[in-house]
Amino acid sequence: MAAFVASAVKGRNPFVLRIALIAAIGGFLFGYDTGVISGALLFIKKDLHAGKAAQQWIVSSLLIGAILGAIAAGYLADRISRRWTKALSGAVYVIAALASAFSQNVPELIAARFVLGLSVGCASFVSPMYIAEQTPPRIRGGGVSFNQLMIVSGILCAYIADWALKGVAANWRWMLGVAAIPGLALLIGMFFVPYSPRWLVEKGRSEDARQVLGRTRADDEVDGEVSDIEDVVSQQRQTSLRDMFTGRARPLIVIGLGLAIFQQLVGVNTVIYYSPTILSFTGMKADAAVTQALTIGVVNVVFTVLAVLLLDRVGRRPLLIGGTVGLTVALTVLGVFFQVAALQHDASWLALVALLVFMASFAIGLGPVFWLMISEIFPLRYRSHAMAVSTVGNWAANFLVSYFFLSFVSWIGKSGTFWLYAALGIAATAFFWVKVPETKGRSLEEVEREAVGGDPYPRDDVAAADDVATSRGAGRESLAGGVGLTDVVRRSATSLGRDVSSAMPHSVRAATPCSYVMASHAKIDGGSAWLHSCIAQRCVMVGPPSLCSLRGRCFPSR
Ligand code: BGC
Repeated sequence: MAAFVASAVKGRNPFVLRIALIAAIGGFLFGYDTGVISGALLFIKKDLHAGKAAQQWIVSSLLIGAILGAIAAGYLADRISRRWTKALSGAVYVIAALASAFSQNVPELIAARFVLGLSVGCASFVSPMYIAEQTPPRIRGGGVSFNQLMIVSGILCAYIADWALKGVAANWRWMLGVAAIPGLALLIGMFFVPYSPRWLVEKGRSEDARQVLGRTRADDEVDGEVSDIEDVVSQQRQTSLRDMFTGRARPLIVIGLGLAIFQQLVGVNTVIYYSPTILSFTGMKADAAVTQALTIGVVNVVFTVLAVLLLDRVGRRPLLIGGTVGLTVALTVLGVFFQVAALQHDASWLALVALLVFMASFAIGLGPVFWLMISEIFPLRYRSHAMAVSTVGNWAANFLVSYFFLSFVSWIGKSGTFWLYAALGIAATAFFWVKVPETKGRSLEEVEREAVGGDPYPRDDVAAADDVATSRGAGRESLAGGVGLTDVVRRSATSLGRDVSSAMPHSVRAATPCSYVMASHAKIDGGSAWLHSCIAQRCVMVGPPSLCSLRGRCFPSR
């Protein structure tokens, strides 16, 4: 985030920062509701005479609402825009926060928390998506993780609110009701930020998109990015939603869902919701346990800050994998702790240390990286739906783990439960190691192209491209008939009025036996040079193997 803030503040404008700040209020609401209930419940149960089952439903109605909210948001983000979906979720949040504060009985409270969940689930995925689409690639990690920072700040604020308000009259009503303030801030704030440029292009409003990008990108970046988006949007029109599960995007859906589900299966919300309970298992007094829970909240914030500082420097994978290894070790230690009576007796500090290590490891890796990755890895044509699928998976796993934690403790014991989490931590590490790509510093379109490849052009397009290439001096006969690649590329590029002589020999040396006829623009040499502004024309390009899987057409090299 250092790069993000520095670029935003010192750079060309603080506009990106404003966008991220306002959009990330959605994350704050998510965090506040996650954190607030553990403390509020202590008072609600007395006041509303809520039994165990009622309490369970008061907690989990929000999670069920969130699952449905995320589903609805996938549709709404495309239909009415990311911007208005977020504003809508702010409005619903305000109403539901007030309704929960004024609930007169358990069913009313459950209903209000369900509606609150609709809003939180919706915001939980539109926020990172919107921020990712507004932020330039080199600082996107910091920008999106800002949302996670707001989630953990929300959790910490909720802990503080629980602690500070516990002495006042109608305490739990205040705890739940004050959340209407950030909800209102989100609603109002969304009137002061623009539409997502990607959404604008999808709706055929490229000129508006250009203007929005002009406020957050350098001038010479705008055209390239708009044409990139247009390119992907035109592919989007040729694909159906079913392709999301059957086509080449399926591996990405698996990665998104894997991240989503493992993020919860390692038991993070067990720690968030039940840390006082876990600490009281160690023999700690209730008061001390509540205070220590605050420490866990602080560690969560501190290490999330560290993560956002590091994500765009060291990359996503090292933090994700390193953090998951760390939390797996902490879970194993907790398992051992609850297995060995002597430890519980003589070293109760060990449980607290293990919980803190767990929280720190989660906060530096899996916490922010999941939300970041799902805003980065999916092709635009499926992005909102695929993010919704991942978000729904995350909330559903959250619900299952939180709902069954105490049951697991009674079925397989405390140590068994933590060892189960640790085993899942090992599985998660292996999955991340094998499956999750590095996305640092790459445009969303690049990530998409490499991960999925594109569909070959329809035949008509290939023929049209060949014709243009022929007229530009890189004729079909040349390609088929033995002219060297260097020659083809040089002639083609020269015909487009580009001086690429310095890049060219290297590109061609690095080339594999294929060349492309490609729409829009061509990337030469896997990252160092772009041929922009061939938009109306087609260019012949040569590329390394990864580019061979791009849409386009291969010709034999000589
Ligand atoms: C997770 C939440 C969790 C929070 C804790 C988020 O990334 O999605 O379920 O409560 O991190 O910091």
